[in-house]
Amino acid sequence: MITVNEKEHVFHLHNGRMSYLFYVMDSGQLGHLYFGKELRSDGSYLHMVEKAHRPMTTYITEGDLYTSYEHLRQEYPTYGTSDYRYPALEVQGTDGSALCKLEYQGYEIIPGKKPLPGLPATYVEDPAEAETLEIRMRDPWRGLEAVLSYTIFRDCDAIARSVRFVNKGEKTLFLDRAMSLSLDFPDADYESVQLSGSWARARSIVTRPLPPGVPAVSSMRGNSSHQHNPFLALKRKHTTEHSGDAYGFSLVYSGNFLAQAEVDNYNVLRVMLGINPFGFRWKLAPGGEFVTPEAVMVWSNQGLNGMSWQFHALYKNRLARGYWRDRERPVLINNWEATMFDYVEDDLVRFAQKAQECGIELFVLDDGWFGARNNDRAGLGDWKPNPAKLPNGIKGLAQRIEGLGMKFGLWFEPEMVNRDSDLFRAHPDYIIQTPGRTPSHGRNQFVLDFSRPQVVDEIYNQMYALLSTAKISYIKWDMNRSISECYSASLPADQQGEVFHRYILGVYDLHERLIRAFPELLIESCSSGGGRFDAGMLYYAPQGWTSDDSDAIERLKIQYGTSLVYPISSMGAHVSACPNSQVGRNTPIETRGNVAMTGAFGYELDLNKLSEEELKAVKQQVVFYKQNRKLLVQGAFYRLLSPFEGNFAAWEVAEHDGSRALVTVTRILSEINGPYRRLPLLGLDPDRKYHIYSKYLSYEAYGDELMQFGLMLEDQASGQVIEGSGGSGSCEDFRSLVYEVVGM
Ligand code: GLA
Repeated sequence: MITVNEKEHVFHLHNGRMSYLFYVMDSGQLGHLYFGKELRSDGSYLHMVEKAHRPMTTYITEGDLYTSYEHLRQEYPTYGTSDYRYPALEVQGTDGSALCKLEYQGYEIIPGKKPLPGLPATYVEDPAEAETLEIRMRDPWRGLEAVLSYTIFRDCDAIARSVRFVNKGEKTLFLDRAMSLSLDFPDADYESVQLSGSWARARSIVTRPLPPGVPAVSSMRGNSSHQHNPFLALKRKHTTEHSGDAYGFSLVYSGNFLAQAEVDNYNVLRVMLGINPFGFRWKLAPGGEFVTPEAVMVWSNQGLNGMSWQFHALYKNRLARGYWRDRERPVLINNWEATMFDYVEDDLVRFAQKAQECGIELFVLDDGWFGARNNDRAGLGDWKPNPAKLPNGIKGLAQRIEGLGMKFGLWFEPEMVNRDSDLFRAHPDYIIQTPGRTPSHGRNQFVLDFSRPQVVDEIYNQMYALLSTAKISYIKWDMNRSISECYSASLPADQQGEVFHRYILGVYDLHERLIRAFPELLIESCSSGGGRFDAGMLYYAPQGWTSDDSDAIERLKIQYGTSLVYPISSMGAHVSACPNSQVGRNTPIETRGNVAMTGAFGYELDLNKLSEEELKAVKQQVVFYKQNRKLLVQGAFYRLLSPFEGNFAAWEVAEHDGSRALVTVTRILSEINGPYRRLPLLGLDPDRKYHIYSKYLSYEAYGDELMQFGLMLEDQASGQVIEGSGGSGSCEDFRSLVYEVVGM
């Protein structure tokens, strides 16, 4: 998969579908050549280098008026020479100079892929699945070595990149910017696609043409954030969901990030992704090492959905890991929206009992079970059950739940502490705060300094004590505020720029230790919903709570946007009560079920309060989900109609061999006497006959018809009046249907 043209010093990564090419310049810097559909591996490509004599340019060599780094497409640009665009690397020496020039030293090709120490990363199970190219670069003047690592995957159109720095000199260096990925495209005629939003409204798809300048998304909050996701895509103007070129860039990291696209005056586009340089400064003493997080870049010529497939396949199979990776996830019920902090053991057992009668498999006890936690002003940090609520402790409650034939799960917020807690009273110095300044609070809580191993140890010991004595099968790991006044009492002044990154390394370390101690524990990540929904978390937690907004109609956009990068198996999605507690909307129980089922499915309401008819619907949903969850977790996901663009949302999950599909169609607002509608499907076998079933409809059709003419949408608003369908019932707002398309 990696071909090296030794004569021309050209490196070519290819996997039969996609090519990535770069070369060594005469000066020793690396230049970028091409990324896209596969090119022949025996070709000669150096003529792709474009340069010209341009007035008002800074040139590299006296007498040569053609060669400037400013005009050359580069692979890992550094700061301080003749390139005036943003660099991937910025290094300060103790001499005050920020100049750095990396020169090529050599390369190595390694079968498979090495792990990244202390960091989440994609992996292989068999060395034949991937090949890694390591390029060794060095700044002789600084003594800085950089090893650029590229892994190309055999079965997936993705390349994973990271960089390892070693200070081989005699003087201390400071990394002020060390991006994971930089890539110069020959033109900038793309639109950028980002996932942006806010709490309860995260990951909306935002598409914009690229203007000259430096459009960027980032986080400086310590978590990857609700505001922007560590992801960026590029698409041509005419690229659709299912056709045309699309490139996706995703950072396997959960802290501060920067994703930027710089368009220069020659219409060259430089994409960059990595730790946000703002607030970052890493001290590299002689002999010291630093490894950047991994960035994954994918390419597809089958539109944005094709790009998503590459991410889904890689992240589902070779980023998520462990016991739960390929297993069917349990249907869960969570008590948060139903009870908030107000419950005692018997209430919880009654709550779980009803869920068990409906076939639900896992009961999750959310916030409020520990310390003095009767509201959000106390208790965080004291991970011991509150005897007033749980007289038999977590162990006793877990036993009663297990006695019902269900599994038991528990909520934690490991990284936080309330001022009113035993932990804070004993160790007020454990929080992140700047000496002499008042620390800001968020939700009345403070962030524990996870950059300090002893703080991580304290929380690990508390969690271990519970997990090893009670039968806990699942934890929901929450994180409900961002970091402010960032400073660690344990680090000297010249290492304060390391705190944000060390904090995340501490979070990863705690995850890793828990997974090692309890390999069958299912972890769901959460950060006030989706404030840390990123590829880094997926390595530890195969599912995440997608959003604190559980309204089915809001969720159409949230889940549709999230699916751009993340597999549906990773999206926690629950049926909650109506009127919905976030937006006050009433939606039919069927719609709530249908939307939540395309995710890690569960409930978040008191089933004892439902009508007989609603309970019947819940029981049917649970049976249907269990029958189909293998397909829903492992199938190919197709986005069909975007809720960002119209009154409908539709998606399809199909078996990879096209033998079966489930199609979910939701009409947002009711419309009267509208047009007939058909929905062309994807991924079926054109020559196979299928039976189509929905609540009201049953017919047979071949795959070619279903993919060309389309699935005939049944609903009153599109003109078909179905006798016995309940008349006005089917005409209401927020109606949704699942169609089963079954190969005969
Ligand atoms: C966050 C989570 C919710 C719930 C509460 C509990 O907001 O996103 O699901 O766990 O915390 O305090």
